Amino acid sequence: MGFWRDKVVLVTGASRGIGEAMVNKLAQSGSRLVLTARAEQKLCQLAKQLTEAGTECIYLAADTRDQKAVKQVVHYGLDCWGRIDVLINNAGVGLRGPVETLNPSQLMEAMAVNVSGPLHFIQAVLPQFKEQGSGLVINIASLGAVQTAPNIGGYAATKAALVKLGEALRLEHQDSGIRVCTVYPGSVRTEFRQHALGNAYSNKEPRLSRIAPELVAERILKYAASGNQYIFITAKDRLFASLANIAPRLAEFLISQAFRRAQPDKIRGKEG
Ligand SMILES: NC(=O)c1ccc[n+]([C@@H]2O[C@H](COP(=O)([O-])OP(=O)(O)OC[C@H]3O[C@@H](n4cnc5c(N)ncnc54)[C@H](OP(=O)(O)O)[C@@H]3O)[C@@H](O)[C@H]2O)c1
Repeated sequence: MGFWRDKVVLVTGASRGIGEAMVNKLAQSGSRLVLTARAEQKLCQLAKQLTEAGTECIYLAADTRDQKAVKQVVHYGLDCWGRIDVLINNAGVGLRGPVETLNPSQLMEAMAVNVSGPLHFIQAVLPQFKEQGSGLVINIASLGAVQTAPNIGGYAATKAALVKLGEALRLEHQDSGIRVCTVYPGSVRTEFRQHALGNAYSNKEPRLSRIAPELVAERILKYAASGNQYIFITAKDRLFASLANIAPRLAEFLISQAFRRAQPDKIRGKEG
């Protein structure tokens, strides 16, 4: 993956899951790294491991909701490496529950992590990207932002907001050397569900696929390097997103059928 060699890449949500998998792939590809998340000890372990293996890697713990802390991460990265080539806005939190009982303060919390957090990072790196005349922002959204499903309306709303933020950013910086790409993962095998806000996830809920984070990381980095603006991890995800755009009623019908089959009582409102 020549594209990534010597690039300075800032990865948010680097402490586990898809973020950690991307960090490991980037290290193998010769990138210089800035890692961030809240779990300082985990970041320290990961950075130590990578540094011992020869990767140039620094970390700073921060909560993406804290704009001042986010600026410190970006400044630390610039002080150490002199530039930032790629921002991967990966940190995020799930939110599960039907719209009827969605807790508004949990929705605001998810908005703060999934929308304000990426916005803070974008605003902090943009002056540097403009000065460099180049930069790549990769926003990790969700397939749910294209076609939602029962119980993920709140989460999908946060990711749809992130998609729109990225689209506007791309238009605002056309011809400036700044690229924006959006990733639409389906279900990935991480601790995402355990850390989600709202109701506990049910294992019975239908999923289009359930992919390993390492494969997701590999494809994100490969497709972003090839210049893709919209990244789908599997052909099935891409096909379903196309269906949702071309024939939204058919996509909704297929989803409601899948949920009816998986949870006949819940979808008909008989849940306790
Ligand atoms: N897993 C899926 O099925 C799936 C599907 C579609 C999209 N996605 C998206 O993919 C991204 C990565 O998810 P994942 O599956 O790897 O989930 P994960 O294992 O729960 O990891 C989430 C990461 O975000 C960080 N994070 C969460 N809240 C934060 C905050 N307030 N400030 C700073 N960092 C924070 C976490 O680190 P700390 O806790 O250490 O802060 C962690 O590193 C998310 O944006 C998620 O919405 C996931």
